Amino acid sequence: VLVADPIAAEGVERLREHLSVDENHRLEPAELVRLIGEYEALVIRSETRVTRDVLEAGKRLRVVARAGVGVDNVDVEAATRCGVIVINSPEGNTIAAAEHTVAMLLALSRKIPEAAASIRRGEWQRGRFLGVEVYNKVIGVVGLGKIGREVARRCRGLGMVVLASDAYVPADVARRDGAELVELDVLIERADYITVHTPLNRETRGLFSDAAFARMKPGVRLINCARGGVIDEAALLRALESGKCAGAALDVFTEEPLPTGSPLRGHAKILATPHLGASTEEAQVNIAVDVADQILAVLDGRPPRTAVNMPAVGADVYTRVAPYIQLGQGIGRLLAQLSDGAVTSVDVSYSGDVLALDVQPVTRGILVGLLRPILDQGVNFVNALYLAEQRGIRVTESKRASGSTGPSDGFNELRVEIQAAGGKHAAAGAVLARNEVRIREIDGFNLDLRPEGLLLFVRHSDRPGVIGKVGTLLGAAGVNIAGMYVGREAVGKRAIMVLTVDAVAPDLLEAIRTSIDAEMARQIEL
Ligand code: 3PG
Repeated sequence: VLVADPIAAEGVERLREHLSVDENHRLEPAELVRLIGEYEALVIRSETRVTRDVLEAGKRLRVVARAGVGVDNVDVEAATRCGVIVINSPEGNTIAAAEHTVAMLLALSRKIPEAAASIRRGEWQRGRFLGVEVYNKVIGVVGLGKIGREVARRCRGLGMVVLASDAYVPADVARRDGAELVELDVLIERADYITVHTPLNRETRGLFSDAAFARMKPGVRLINCARGGVIDEAALLRALESGKCAGAALDVFTEEPLPTGSPLRGHAKILATPHLGASTEEAQVNIAVDVADQILAVLDGRPPRTAVNMPAVGADVYTRVAPYIQLGQGIGRLLAQLSDGAVTSVDVSYSGDVLALDVQPVTRGILVGLLRPILDQGVNFVNALYLAEQRGIRVTESKRASGSTGPSDGFNELRVEIQAAGGKHAAAGAVLARNEVRIREIDGFNLDLRPEGLLLFVRHSDRPGVIGKVGTLLGAAGVNIAGMYVGREAVGKRAIMVLTVDAVAPDLLEAIRTSIDAEMARQIEL
């Protein structure tokens, strides 16, 4: 085992009881590539980058263990391709991260770091460090996952008014944590403090931009102990300079380690810590022992507790069920991006050839596809059902025996219907000959779509000229169309258009929506 980032001694000792362990911290990328060939397991935290080069050079590598939550420094796709299991420890540092957030909230409000530094300089300046109370202030918790919920509870304990925004959590779950669930816009406008607890993904990157700051209360304070990049750092600096934002407490940064010349380092209104959210003795011991046990399990041929990329089935069954998992994940991802608001139920029905297989991992694959755009890397085949249950999502599975079972006869073997706050959506598909996977129905419209790449999904009313207008707009914006499917209920009724494209900018989506008076125009990433 190579331990490439520092972890608690308890974890290293647990490994040493059974395996040979080298601790070699903070290796240069090329050095890691050179050395990795010797090892069967690699242990990392957020510092070491496990790139495709590392994974491809790791000829004996069987498991990458992230002693922590975020696997944004691991090329999980490459690991899957190389047959390397990626495990993490998603629960061990929840409390540590929540407590660090509260520490940052209070330290920022009472100017504790500056005051402590002034004492060290031999000063006694009481007037310079007049603070503000958090009591009765409104705090907006953005992202009500495990950490966000612990933060919400603690802020209630401080007598704060807690607002929360999370499109995927039902209002009663938020209420149980003492938070009022509101739209992000409302949270931004009402909060005195905003704390971020989302992963960094397509939806959250740059979420706090100039436009968001413009809508905030004057004197707002921000805290980010989640992931750098959710707050646009340049926009934050502008808001601090203009006085719109009174201060920010940051534990995470777009670039880590924070570059020497970064204006965030010395700024008087910024309280910065070096990604310490998970750094408590308790969390580090929990995590190190947890990943050590999981490594021992994997190397012993047993399933790990929290694999990021491994379905919980044996290798032989996996080969047969894999195309259905691929289809299920694609349908899940599609429905996640088509729907609006909290998902409350997922109904899966199976028919045809798939019935000969154990469909449980397929249902899990659907949930992974559905939840991953929402929860990011925390979701895997092992915990997908548990996470759905935790979010109040009812999952049902039904099997329909049928006479028509040929895999390529136009029959859908897998159909998923979801109920979300914004309405119902359904998609269905089949595995064809040579394991070709197709989505063949979306919301009652028939098509024939590989679940991959970027789609432009348009819902509109059927009338002449619509396809031409969309094509012209895309052409003028230099967007290539690789494929196109259209369908309609009946002449002049509701219709859809699905285009496989390279990329569509948000303003182009808006232009399409207006030009054809579309009900919906969305970019969907499969
Ligand atoms: C995590 O994702 O677990 C946290 O960001 C902690 O990262 P660390 O293990 O590098 O402290």
